[in-house]
Amino acid sequence: MSEEKKLTTAFGAPVPDNRNSATAGKRGPVLMQDVWLMEKLGHFAREVIPERRMHAKGSGAFGTFTVTNDITKYTKAKLFSEVGKQTPLFVRFSTVAGERGAADAERDIRGFAVKFYTEEGNWDLVGNNTPVFFIRDPLQFPDLNRAVKRNPKTNLRDATANWDFWTSLPEAIHQVTIVMSDRGIPKSYRTMHGFGSHTYSLINENDERVWVKFHWVCQQPIENLSNAEAAEIVANDRESHQRDLFDAIERGDFPKWKLYIQVMTEEQANNMPYNPFDLTKVWYHDEFPLIEVGVMELNRNPENYFQDVEQAAFAPSTIIPGVSFSPDRMLQGRLFSYADAQRYRLGANYHQIPVNAPKCPVNSYHRDGQGRVDGNHGSTIGYAPNSFGEWAEQPQFKNPGLDVSGAAYQYDFYEDDSDFYTQPGKLFRLMSPEKQQILFKNTAAAMDGVPDFIKERHAKHCYQCDPAYGEGVAKALGMNIDFSDVK
Ligand code: HEM
Repeated sequence: MSEEKKLTTAFGAPVPDNRNSATAGKRGPVLMQDVWLMEKLGHFAREVIPERRMHAKGSGAFGTFTVTNDITKYTKAKLFSEVGKQTPLFVRFSTVAGERGAADAERDIRGFAVKFYTEEGNWDLVGNNTPVFFIRDPLQFPDLNRAVKRNPKTNLRDATANWDFWTSLPEAIHQVTIVMSDRGIPKSYRTMHGFGSHTYSLINENDERVWVKFHWVCQQPIENLSNAEAAEIVANDRESHQRDLFDAIERGDFPKWKLYIQVMTEEQANNMPYNPFDLTKVWYHDEFPLIEVGVMELNRNPENYFQDVEQAAFAPSTIIPGVSFSPDRMLQGRLFSYADAQRYRLGANYHQIPVNAPKCPVNSYHRDGQGRVDGNHGSTIGYAPNSFGEWAEQPQFKNPGLDVSGAAYQYDFYEDDSDFYTQPGKLFRLMSPEKQQILFKNTAAAMDGVPDFIKERHAKHCYQCDPAYGEGVAKALGMNIDFSDVK
């Protein structure tokens, strides 16, 4: 037997018997001194780590980003410094509401998280397959998740809670329309677009800022499932997305997405008819056309799912020079929440896990902590300022100042903007009559069992987007709704 095929304990000692525990006598009880048994059971009991609070079910792959168009007038990020430049990356796609063992082909939004390993540090663009979101204030995020997850008593998914919450927030109708549309169940992760969703900023060499939205345009044909098709797939295969992505990469059919940006100047933002930092709104493409940036190709499956996919940690706060944040309330909330969740889920040194570790030098003064395995910067000074020439801050990377004004206060978003219906109305009118029918049917199916007053509330939101939308939903629900009190 070759050396590497010999079974050892975690500490390298030979394991003489991996089938029979040591017993006191031939038919007697097991002995605690069978330390291999203790080690094996003890490790096994700790193999499950907390799952992500949402986006628990996912699939990942490595790949490359290649710049195809010069956007250096907008950003100094080295990642985009020249056409043809390549940067390695890791992507994790996910469903949102389901737990780690949930079926893939569910009606749900999909996570679309990209980690670029740039020479100036990692940049995580943690988006979804939709350009907007259900809510626009981070205070409501825990509520959203409780509403879409399980009922505390029945432990079942709860359509009433789900629709009670969504319909109580009129700003949710845009995202709800997308989720209930024919695009609500992508056939696979390879057949959907991705979006950064939030407004971010880009900063150039002259310290000039523009506001920006990121779009991943799918280079595979867009394909989606009907409820019936999805039900059939789920009955036979709960891992349909994982299987599709993994198999495609194994056979060399590498999926691709093109990255585009929409750009808005600070001056334009000040004159927008709606809040450009409102995550329930899109920026119209005719006003803010898509500008090509580059292409992403996924071309390598992880060797070990737990190591690279389960332990992957994406955070909007993982940012690089030349890309920055915006006043979007949701984005600001997310800047706290992800690293906080990951310190709990993976431990304080989660940045050392290979999939999360940057591929450039790391000179931080963080030290110690559970699970530190890299030598902990040895004897290097662990404080700053110091007189021994250790790591100096880099003021040239400060972002330009952002003008803000007004008193600190809980401003009511509805007073700033209560136009919930214009954009979903436009989306509805972009759909063909067949797709509108699918939207009505999907909505009615998803509202099965929901009390009539909630159904009526939803139909009235739809009506305000477009009367035909409200009437179509009412008909599909089999309800006679009086819309005279709306609009
Ligand atoms: C995962 C919080 C909104 C996309 C997560 C996780 C948390 C979280 C705590 C689990 C992180 C982990 O354990 O690694 C929040 C909060 C939000 C918010 C507080 C609102 C204030 C959004 C939005 C998007 C998004 C608007 C997309 C535009 C994702 C994705 C993942 C995720 C893709 C999974 C990342 C992965 O694959 O590991 N979110 N989220 N989230 N979130 Fe959010």
